[in-house]
Amino acid sequence: MEQREIGSGLSVATVGLGTWSVFDHGPDRQANADGVVTAMLRDGCALFDSSPMYGRAEAVLGAALAGRRDQAIVATKIWTPSVEEGRAQFARQLDWYGGRVDVEQVHNLVSWHAHLEWMAEERAAGRIGLLGATHYSPGAFDELARVMRSGLIQMVQVPLNPDERQVEDEILPLAEELGLGVLVMRPLGSGRLGAGPPAAELRPLGVESWAEAVLVWALSDPRVTAVIPATANAEHAVANARAARHPGLGKDDRRRIEALWRAR
Ligand SMILES: NC(=O)c1ccc[n+]([C@@H]2O[C@H](COP(=O)([O-])OP(=O)(O)OC[C@H]3O[C@@H](n4cnc5c(N)ncnc54)[C@H](OP(=O)(O)O)[C@@H]3O)[C@@H](O)[C@H]2O)c1
Repeated sequence: MEQREIGSGLSVATVGLGTWSVFDHGPDRQANADGVVTAMLRDGCALFDSSPMYGRAEAVLGAALAGRRDQAIVATKIWTPSVEEGRAQFARQLDWYGGRVDVEQVHNLVSWHAHLEWMAEERAAGRIGLLGATHYSPGAFDELARVMRSGLIQMVQVPLNPDERQVEDEILPLAEELGLGVLVMRPLGSGRLGAGPPAAELRPLGVESWAEAVLVWALSDPRVTAVIPATANAEHAVANARAARHPGLGKDDRRRIEALWRAR
């Protein structure tokens, strides 16, 4: 379960890193980010997700990757109704990430058609690897499905965890039908599922922590390419990266995790 294809021949480790809220706070933010990025790269988990919406996170990630950008897959986003501002966001990203963004996503589907037009030109010029679109809300999944069917993107980013499963209805089956990669945002429910039943109850499932159990739960759906849990804590990064080495859970063990969560 360690590597899966995200789209058009680009493979990623099944655990990446989100940067929302964790790379933008406190006087130690750069040192924390450096430590987390080091831990992830050491474990071969080289996918990093960011956005212009996340304050200084994109710049902090760029600095954390200094001297090792070639080891990383950078997924970030364009988040603005304006094409002009979108191009300005992209120009800053090229500065931070050594002249290339590996996965460029339209954040929350804002002006998606207008952005995907110029983003496709940047992809053809080799400055973008894959194009994607993200949304966090089931209320936007009909529109997301239209973008997926447009043929303009190679991957999507959506929420999935034992408490948020709406993508199982249409988005995951459609991604499978169209051969699109799927990045899972909020795999720990923005921290709500970070802690759960004690480790002793989890060991029979081959996991050491509740966070790892929840990440493995999502990765055991074969339509998922990678999960991107956010953390500012290098020990949590190591615990999360373990999920990439798990062989995957069968149906009954997935149900067991869901039952453990309901009974907590
Ligand atoms: N496009 C969109 O609309 C959108 C929306 C939401 C998220 N995203 C992307 O998806 C990423 C992940 O989603 P998210 O940040 O909302 O939430 P998440 O990854 O589900 O949860 C992050 C929280 O879990 C905690 N955590 C991480 N590892 C842990 C562990 N091993 N044990 C215990 N706690 C742990 C973190 O705290 P510590 O720092 O203490 O570890 C953090 O508070 C975002 O960072 C962002 O890149 C995109």
